[in-house]
Amino acid sequence: MSLARVHNFSISLDGFGTGEGQSHDAPFGHAGEGLHEWMFATGFWHKMIGRPGGTGGVDDAFARQFTPGIGAEIMGAGKFGPPGWHEDPEWKGWWGPNPPFHTPTFILTHHPRPSIEMEGGTTFHFLDASPAKALETAREAAGGQDVRIGGGPTLIRDFLAAGLIDHMHIVVVPTLLGRGVRLWDGLEGTEKDYEVEATSSPSGVTHVTFTRVGL
Ligand SMILES: NC(=O)c1ccc[n+]([C@@H]2O[C@H](COP(=O)([O-])OP(=O)(O)OC[C@H]3O[C@@H](n4cnc5c(N)ncnc54)[C@H](OP(=O)(O)O)[C@@H]3O)[C@@H](O)[C@H]2O)c1
Repeated sequence: MSLARVHNFSISLDGFGTGEGQSHDAPFGHAGEGLHEWMFATGFWHKMIGRPGGTGGVDDAFARQFTPGIGAEIMGAGKFGPPGWHEDPEWKGWWGPNPPFHTPTFILTHHPRPSIEMEGGTTFHFLDASPAKALETAREAAGGQDVRIGGGPTLIRDFLAAGLIDHMHIVVVPTLLGRGVRLWDGLEGTEKDYEVEATSSPSGVTHVTFTRVGL
């Protein structure tokens, strides 16, 4: 069975998955890099960017689940680029010539464009489709493997509202953003559909996993 999985998705204590004022120079708006400092310290991340070192331990063990068994990713237009990226025909995402996805990657957008083949196995495809249809398309491309639902918060909220997420790893970071894009709005009671576990890390973050009941 091909699962829809969320990994390493970080939110503030007050539930924001990104700050206000996203731009080319501030991909997370006023949140800066604060939501992901826990991850940047890990061996997983160091390996991802080709640097030696990084921490082991709880944060690293969770972060590493990002890759195994994933055959495709779906992300929102707001993760792929800053507001207005679709007006730039040369925009190919934030990640340089060899993005860290290494699979077919589907960008949900109301401004589709031709697919872009990148180095390292990532091909960006642009889809204007419902979450259910996008997941069907990504599952076909994943060849029986799981599909990562990569964010941002609007996209994950929509997939949760449609009942499409099987497993979700949320990282609660002890910071208060006060403004930005919330993950949980309109999702009252969603936790009842999941087995929920929380693990505190010495770094100060809390890893919360949601696994669909009966999976
Ligand atoms: N906290 C984390 O771990 C994490 C992870 C990933 C990203 N982020 C951050 O999250 C932010 C982006 O999140 P966001 O909530 O603003 O945006 P998002 O969820 O990435 O994308 C939402 C946008 O995608 C397009 N879209 C979504 N569903 C669609 C559908 N069914 N059909 C067609 N188009 C659809 C629409 O854009 P258009 O109408 O413009 O096409 C919509 O406004 C960025 O700051 C990013 O850096 C955070």
